[in-house]
Amino acid sequence: MRVCSTPLPLLLLLLASDGVFAKRTLIRRASNYAARQTTSLARDLRVALAGVGVLPRSDAAQHVIFCKNSAQGALGSSSVPPESNSTSPSGSGTNGGASISNHASSSSTKKSSASPTGTAGGATSTSTSAWHLVQNYAGSTFFNGWDFWDTADPTHGIVQYLSQSDAQNAGLIEINPAGNAVMRVETTPTVASTRKSVRITTQRVFTGGLIIMDSVHMPTGCATWPAFWSNGPDWPLGGEIDVVEGISDYTNNQATIHTGPGCSLTTDNPSQLGASASAVTGGTDCAAATSGNAGCGMRSPSSQSFGPGFNSNGGGVYAMKWDSSGISVYFFARGSIPGDISSGSPNPPSWGLPMAHWPPSDCDPWKFFHDHVAIFDTTLCGDWAGSAWTSTGAPGQDQSCATRTGFSTCDAFVQASGASFNDAYWEVKSVKIYNTTAPL
Ligand SMILES: *[C@@H]1O[C@H](CO)[C@@H](O)[C@H](O)[C@H]1NC(C)=O
Ligand SMILES: *[C@@H]1O[C@H](CO)[C@@H](O)[C@H](O)[C@H]1NC(C)=O
Repeated sequence: MRVCSTPLPLLLLLLASDGVFAKRTLIRRASNYAARQTTSLARDLRVALAGVGVLPRSDAAQHVIFCKNSAQGALGSSSVPPESNSTSPSGSGTNGGASISNHASSSSTKKSSASPTGTAGGATSTSTSAWHLVQNYAGSTFFNGWDFWDTADPTHGIVQYLSQSDAQNAGLIEINPAGNAVMRVETTPTVASTRKSVRITTQRVFTGGLIIMDSVHMPTGCATWPAFWSNGPDWPLGGEIDVVEGISDYTNNQATIHTGPGCSLTTDNPSQLGASASAVTGGTDCAAATSGNAGCGMRSPSSQSFGPGFNSNGGGVYAMKWDSSGISVYFFARGSIPGDISSGSPNPPSWGLPMAHWPPSDCDPWKFFHDHVAIFDTTLCGDWAGSAWTSTGAPGQDQSCATRTGFSTCDAFVQASGASFNDAYWEVKSVKIYNTTAPL
């Protein structure tokens, strides 16, 4: 194992064997619960439990996960200017050998990573927007400023996540002729074990802000489990915000928070929470440990918000706002994107109800969330899509994937059905991170 300078708390956790049995029980309960509720497991419960050695992976592998994460979260690379050339990523530029974890070093990286980068031209246009662009992942430089996770999937999908250079060489990532960033899954007809895929994490660390993600296509189809989400350190204490997430044939997005103990919703009535969601999924106790890790999820009322409907409509925009008014997720289908977003001067007060909103009254957004990184990934099967293989009921999933595919297990389907993953790709126009000089 290489020397890691920062994951000391994790190493200490690894040494603490007490509670392992309880945690094993917890994750089994969480899995069952998630399958029943078709709600998501917090991805970093799995990271965390892998970290304490309770998941069926060798300790060595778990160490590597955290070491790689640390190596990738290099202080030096967190300030790579977007002007630097990423049209032909070599992988060596952003995956260099520094050894400071994004998470563990977040307080020290905050200053340097907060310096304005990117083509901020749009943000200077006239408007009443209180928000200014601080980071713009777009166009030929989209992949600058992300780390590629290239070790085992903490969510137990049967994917092999590739480094940037390997993903490039395998044709899994590209900037397409439209100037959009594409992240694919391997479509080789049959594979013996895993399919290759991509998981990327921003080097930028943020506490509060506004993230606007514009995508024209997202992964869909049985066995897929794509997500765009953000996550803090010391999971679940740093909190997790799943902005876009769902599985298989789902047509409606589920946005979810997972937290440490003490964060809740006052009601499971979305309209009383100030959200347009059709339902609260999971429950009103957002704490990972006490909710069976279902978290507090909200389902979009729009069948264009996820999967096939999202793609056939040319995608759309997701915005996640995190400030003293709480955490909100907005969705705008293509064709309904507010002009202030398109012009780069976002004005959330004019957007109407968010699809999901977690008010600050019972869940202090500064206490339960901090120092997040944003993440894209596409996994296959694993803790959610795998365990829900025979489930029905979520919008879009009237038939189970077992019935639809004729395969009794998710893994067998994935291994035998490469062509089924032609649609399992993200095509992203941009991810823009805004901040405000007014108090958050
Ligand atoms: C970016 O890389 C391409 C291909 O290697 C090269 O042609 C171009 O000059 C580079 N641009 C910059 C700004 O370095
Ligand atoms: C916005 O600024 C605050 C205060 O400097 C900082 O803590 C936070 O991380 C920033 N958020 C983003 C998205 O840059």
